[in-house]
Amino acid sequence: MKVLIATDKPFAKVAVDGIRQVVEGAGYELALLEKYTEKKQLLDAVADANAIIIRSDIIDQEVFAAAKKLKIVVRAGAGYDNVDLAAATAAGVCVMNTPGQNANAVAELALGLMVYAVRNFYNGTSGTELLGKKIGIHAYGNVGRNVARVAKGFGMNVSAYDAFCRADVIEADGVKALCCVEDLYGTCEVISLHIPATAETKGSINFELLSKMPKGALLVNTARKEVINEADLVKVFEARPDFKYVTDIAPSNDAELKAKFPDRYFATPKKMGAQTSEANINAGIAAAKQIVDFLQTGNEKFRVNK
Ligand code: 3PG
Repeated sequence: MKVLIATDKPFAKVAVDGIRQVVEGAGYELALLEKYTEKKQLLDAVADANAIIIRSDIIDQEVFAAAKKLKIVVRAGAGYDNVDLAAATAAGVCVMNTPGQNANAVAELALGLMVYAVRNFYNGTSGTELLGKKIGIHAYGNVGRNVARVAKGFGMNVSAYDAFCRADVIEADGVKALCCVEDLYGTCEVISLHIPATAETKGSINFELLSKMPKGALLVNTARKEVINEADLVKVFEARPDFKYVTDIAPSNDAELKAKFPDRYFATPKKMGAQTSEANINAGIAAAKQIVDFLQTGNEKFRVNK
């Protein structure tokens, strides 16, 4: 059996070593494709792979067609919007993710971006503090929960809205559960996004919602760029001189925002949320173990396609 790590953005070496131990310990072969620049390299590499570990790498119909021996793809991370699930199912391939394994890393970056923004991007001018500010966590999954924990450490007043998580579960963490998204945006000066990119959420963070935010509004996105309505984002920047946006996923109109609103906008040059040794080790080794378990026992616990 051959397991391929196919990561455009490589794991830390220590994580690759850990994955190797799990894979080779099970008697399988490990192949590594990192920092590939052309899709052809990916298509060639998957040709004889039985299992693939990926990150945000695009796994589409063409990849499944090229991977004739493929049984399983594990996305070492949370979001699997980069995998064509219908094509996977049609090809008889199991797709899994590794929920929660990189959540703390993303949450720490979200708070780091917040500090950076409220301190005016360290430009030497007097900023503000997070202590006592209201933060609204939009979606209370693994990352949202970690953001709540860290934000409480900063002395922030934490609220959350999640369409699928029960209020009593949120409240058990000492977080105020709000009943609708309008209440979250209407009451919190800092909003941290943790929604996945789905048909329902794409473009859903729009002018109407962002206009509800109180004075001194700060929007932090460590989720997906697709959830933002980018034209509306420009409108909000123009309408509200108090509005700031910091993100770990540069929008398509990054150059425009940089040019027009340099004091109120920042995007990391490359998505960095999950890019820590710890998160790479946690997610990478979980992915390797899930593959071994699936190949040896058929365990499909973390399967995300039908
Ligand atoms: C995730 O969905 O797990 C995060 O967005 C991390 O993505 P990455 O593995 O490409 O850094």
